[in-house]
Amino acid sequence: MNLAICETQAAVGAAAAEIVLNLVRARPGAVLGVATGSSPQPVYSYLAEHHAAGFPDATCFALDEYVGLPSTHEQSYAHFVRRQIGRPLGFRPVNIHVPDGIAEDPEAACVAYEAQIEAAGGIDLQILGIGRNGHLAFNEPGSPFDSRTRVVPLTDDTRQANSRFFDDLSMVPEHAITQGLGTIMEARHLVLVVHGRNKSQALERALNGPLTQECPASILQIHPHVTVIADKAAAESLVRSHSALGSARDFTTAVT
Ligand code: GLP
Repeated sequence: MNLAICETQAAVGAAAAEIVLNLVRARPGAVLGVATGSSPQPVYSYLAEHHAAGFPDATCFALDEYVGLPSTHEQSYAHFVRRQIGRPLGFRPVNIHVPDGIAEDPEAACVAYEAQIEAAGGIDLQILGIGRNGHLAFNEPGSPFDSRTRVVPLTDDTRQANSRFFDDLSMVPEHAITQGLGTIMEARHLVLVVHGRNKSQALERALNGPLTQECPASILQIHPHVTVIADKAAAESLVRSHSALGSARDFTTAVT
């Protein structure tokens, strides 16, 4: 695992974006996994600014989608992916994939989504954020490590955290379709971007806590190729806990 601690949120975005650029320059047809939420937005902004050529040959797969929101809904992840990633980065619409939140048969939509990822040759690089409770995508605490794309209920904590994007809490969907932890683990490179003090404990538990389904992001400890990029606020608990950096034998720690 590589760990980089950056001064600012913008620097976190730039560092992650450079990893994406290295991949896409070498392989224009790369398959990217993209996360929604606030954490990866600086990554996408940096890419939009620094890669005028765009991503016409690349493919992207979103991690998750709310159940019940059509892709035209402002808070649907399909809308987010089109607005923040697809259009500004020049992906061809046919190469943008998001789980279908209003599928008549959601279970079949999940199976189809897994098949699309497989048909694309799997995900080369997956950008990830982390929830305050350690969730990855919408894999809440207790999610099986071998889980696949499926419909899941959202916890109160996650709905509360995401209510900032909606008029009020009652508007936040109660279910989502999410790639499973097993699906995410098949991506060849995982890049986790984290900023803000409110993620500090989740990050510490994910990297230094026990490997447990109670902290879904702890699964990163057993992926062969993980890069974690955090700002100083998010890394606070890691740095404070002496054992964190002291025992990080296989971490490359860059403080920039
Ligand atoms: C959401 C998303 C996750 C995201 C997480 C953190 O619930 N489903 O993919 O990583 O919350 O979001 P943020 O970066 O906005 O804090």
